[in-house]
Amino acid sequence: AIDPQFTENREQADTHKGHDVWGPVEEPEKLGIHGTHVAVDFDICIADGACVEDCPVDVFEWVDTPDHPESELKADPANESQCIDCMLCVDVCPVDAIDVDAG
Ligand code: SF4
Ligand code: F3S
Ligand code: ZN
Repeated sequence: AIDPQFTENREQADTHKGHDVWGPVEEPEKLGIHGTHVAVDFDICIADGACVEDCPVDVFEWVDTPDHPESELKADPANESQCIDCMLCVDVCPVDAIDVDAG
C-alpha cells in the first residue's frame, strides 16, 4: 500500500502537469508517487480504473507508462485541487495505491 507518510519519507523528485512527483524515479520501472493532496503511487497502481470511474469531480486522468512492470497506464491526479475529500477513490482502489490527505 501507499506510504501515508510519503512527504516525510520521500524527496520531491519532479513535477508533472502542475503536481509534485515524490521519488525515487528511475523510468520506466520506478515512477514514484504523483500528487500530494491526492497521491497515487504509480509503482503500486495496476490500472484498475475504479478511481477514474468513481471520482465525482474527475480528479484523475490516464497517463501512458510504457514498460512499467505493473501496468502501462496510471491514474494521474491531474486535477487534485478539485478534490472534495469524499475518500471514494481510497476505498475502491484494490491495491491501496491512493492516499488522500483530508486532514
Ligand atoms: Fe475524487 Fe473523492 Fe478521491 Fe477526492 S477523495 S480524488 S473527490 S474520489
Ligand atoms: Fe490505479 Fe487503483 Fe486507480 S489500481 S487506476 S489507483 S483504482
Ligand atoms: Zn502526474
